[in-house]
Formats: sequence, structure tokens, C-alpha cells
Amino acid sequence: MSSDPALTHRNFYGRTHGKTLRAAQKAYLAEDLDRLSLKGVTRDENPERRPLDLTPWGDAPLWLEIGFGGGEHLVHMGALNPQTQIIGAEPFVNGIAMLLGKIRAAGLSNLALHPGDVRDLFDVLPDACLSKAFLNYPDPWPKARHHRRRFVTPEHLLPLARAMKPGAEFRVATDIPDYVRQTLEEVPPAGFDLIDQGSTPWSDWLSTRYEQKALREGRPPHYLTFRRR
Ligand SMILES: C[S@@+](CC[C@H](N)C(=O)[O-])C[C@H]1O[C@@H](n2cnc3c(N)ncnc32)[C@H](O)[C@@H]1O
Repeated sequence: MSSDPALTHRNFYGRTHGKTLRAAQKAYLAEDLDRLSLKGVTRDENPERRPLDLTPWGDAPLWLEIGFGGGEHLVHMGALNPQTQIIGAEPFVNGIAMLLGKIRAAGLSNLALHPGDVRDLFDVLPDACLSKAFLNYPDPWPKARHHRRRFVTPEHLLPLARAMKPGAEFRVATDIPDYVRQTLEEVPPAGFDLIDQGSTPWSDWLSTRYEQKALREGRPPHYLTFRRR
């Protein structure tokens, strides 16, 4: 198998479909998904893996949310930062439909999405284009033999680091102590300095569905902030 990440088949172990979609959610997907999706990210659309042309967004700072789930944090950040362009990547179609409903309700025009694996997006993001990235409650993969599937591994972190500007902020929120351990071990060697960590959220934080579930089940959140070197 080729070692070129653009040519290597990627396994995705998460879910892409859940409960049957409601009629309104099907309508959001049919009517809004194509317009809001970045073009030239998938291998079918861009087999040469040419970098995306971001010039239509001008000088707007570009942020990325990895695995936005139901989209509540992404929409909150978009509303709070109207001069910023934010991309969300998420392969779970039910989450994508929820996000589209929230974008409609909020009337936002500064959000775009990749309805798929963020690694495909990394292939085609230009160098040093992102000034912030969010990783909220990444899949925990609790079994030791699955820890290499976690986002905080070089396979994900090195392409993310390449796409981030020097000085750009990378935020991680998790409720899993062993995920904190692996984040502290693996993120700095990928090109980031730890700036802060603890149980106090960022001042502009919006609690996500997974955080609410963690709190109900008695798992306290932990927040980590890194800066790209
Ligand atoms: C535990 S959920 C958290 C969702 C949301 N961030 C929250 O806090 O409620 C993790 C999410 O990451 C998404 N995910 C996992 N691997 C991904 C990948 N390679 N690219 C994009 N999203 C991914 C999953 O589909 C899932 O929705």
C-alpha cells in the first residue's frame, strides 16, 4: 500500500448514520447541504488533491471544528464571530442534518462544512491557513488496543499542524482522563506548546451535547489549550 496519505485507503471506525431522519432534516440535507459544502475535498472531486482555493474568503480568519456532532458549538462560534469563516467537518449524517437546521434558524453565512472525514479535508487545506481549531469531545476509544484510532495521534495531528498558522490556537475538550494523558503526550511533539489546561472552560465556550452527557454521568470536563509553534 502507498505511504502517500492522499492515496492510502483510510479506515473510518465511527458511525455515519443513526436514527431515521425527520422530514425536516431530510429537507435541510436536500436543500442546503450542497450549497454549504466545500468543493474539491473528496477524492472523487479532486483526485490530484489540489489545495483548496480560499481566496473567495479574502482576509477573514479561518477556523476549523473537528467532529462538530450536533453543531451547537460551531453555530455558537459562528454567531459570536461574524467576521470569521468557520469550517466544520463531521461524517455523521444525523449531526450534519442537525447543524443545517441550526444554521437556518440562526441565519448565518460564515459557516461551511465538509460532510466527511476531516483527514480528507487536511489533504487539501493550504499550509498555515487556520488560525484556530476546536476538538470537542473526540471519540474516546477506551480500549488500549484502540488508542491509535484517537484523533490525538500523529496521523491526524501532523496534517492539522501543517494547516495551522504559527501562533494559532488548538483547543481540546474531553471528559476522559486517559485522553488527557494521550493529548499531553502526543500534541506537543506534533508542533504545539501547551498554554493552559484545567477544569475552567474558555470564556466563549458553549457546552456541547457530549459534555452535557458527561456531566449527567458524573465525568468532569477537562479543557486544554495549545499554541502552534
Ligand atoms: C463524541 S462525538 C462529540 C461531538 C461534539 N463535538 C460534541 O462535543 O457534542 C465525536 C464526533 O467526532 C466525529 N468524528 C470522528 N472521527 C472523525 C473524523 N475523522 N473526521 C471528522 N469527524 C470525526 C464523530 O462522528 C462524532 O460526531
